[in-house]
Amino acid sequence: MSGNPRPADAQAIEEAAQRLAGGGLVAFPTETVYGLGADAASARAVAEVYRLKGRPADHPLIVHVLDAAQAAWWAHWPARAQRLADAFWPGPLTLILLRRETAPAFACGGQASIGLRAPSHPVARALLAAFAARGGHGVAAPSANRFGRVSPTRAAHVIDDLGVDAPMVLDGGPCEVGVESTIVDLSREHPVLLRPGGITPAQLEAALGEPVLARDAQAPRASGTLEAHYAPATPIELVDGDEIDRRIAALQARGERVALWARSEVGAQADSRRPMPGDPAGAAHALYDALRALDRSGCARILVERVPDAAAWHAVADRLRRAAAGSNAAAGAERANGP
Ligand code: TXA
Ligand code: MG
Repeated sequence: MSGNPRPADAQAIEEAAQRLAGGGLVAFPTETVYGLGADAASARAVAEVYRLKGRPADHPLIVHVLDAAQAAWWAHWPARAQRLADAFWPGPLTLILLRRETAPAFACGGQASIGLRAPSHPVARALLAAFAARGGHGVAAPSANRFGRVSPTRAAHVIDDLGVDAPMVLDGGPCEVGVESTIVDLSREHPVLLRPGGITPAQLEAALGEPVLARDAQAPRASGTLEAHYAPATPIELVDGDEIDRRIAALQARGERVALWARSEVGAQADSRRPMPGDPAGAAHALYDALRALDRSGCARILVERVPDAAAWHAVADRLRRAAAGSNAAAGAERANGP
């Protein structure tokens, strides 16, 4: 089913919950990005999410729950999980925990661990509550974009991306946070940060009372942690603010049209330009919408002003680095394939 997003009123949310309970898919807003939801306990529904996203089967999904009580149905619930849930749930934090042997394994690709998150967006919560009222235990939902592409932060992005394959899309307006949740692995001896997000390691450490380690080679595979990810089709280049004017001039001299996302007042001669908010939360909120708009601008290249090297900017810096790596990888493949 394709078509227009549906305003997320009470009736649409009831209908969406009914669809989920019947094994169908629903795209819905969360405070981070839009999710492509399915009954996490239904093998058929979860398989349909993988098919529609074009996601490799060994990349597990996040199961969205209302609260710690629902989470504990899926996973063993250690004291650390309770501490983080007390501090940050509902909110943009995903916990990787050891799955209960009795819980269905479809959503986590049969792994021993499972990703769980209680979102704070009122539409997501209303949908989860209506689904729970029909006996549901959780909604598996990756970001509602095709694999490797920019996550959707508006209902229209979901339709743009999934096209005729888009299921019912609940429209809850633009996502407030704008980048995907912070992911912390609590399934091993020490807490490990798998994906930076709006909640910083310092905040996690304060709530846990112990260090959170950086990802290492033993960390479980997470597609959001692939080197090349979150990439628009147009090549992206990260450039220091004071280099931007020169870089634009060099590219334009070669006949390339150049798009720019920058904080400072540089790059007035860019062919297409969007302002980057000067604060990290504002930049995260605007990030994917800006990349999508610049991707559609018809330019040959997107230049993005490098963001400050500060903890508060890490989530944005991480997504930009991967988006740029994605376009470098694509450019490399093009070269390898010849003209
Ligand atoms: O903000 C978010 O987390 C959004 C919204 C919709 O909630 N969801 C999201 O889902 O970003 P997705 O599927 O695009 O990314 C989920 C990430 C992936 O990197 C996945 O590999 C990782 O979570 N993940 C899920 N379960 C895992 C597990 N058991 N072990 C390790 N990583 C896991
Ligand atoms: Mg994703």
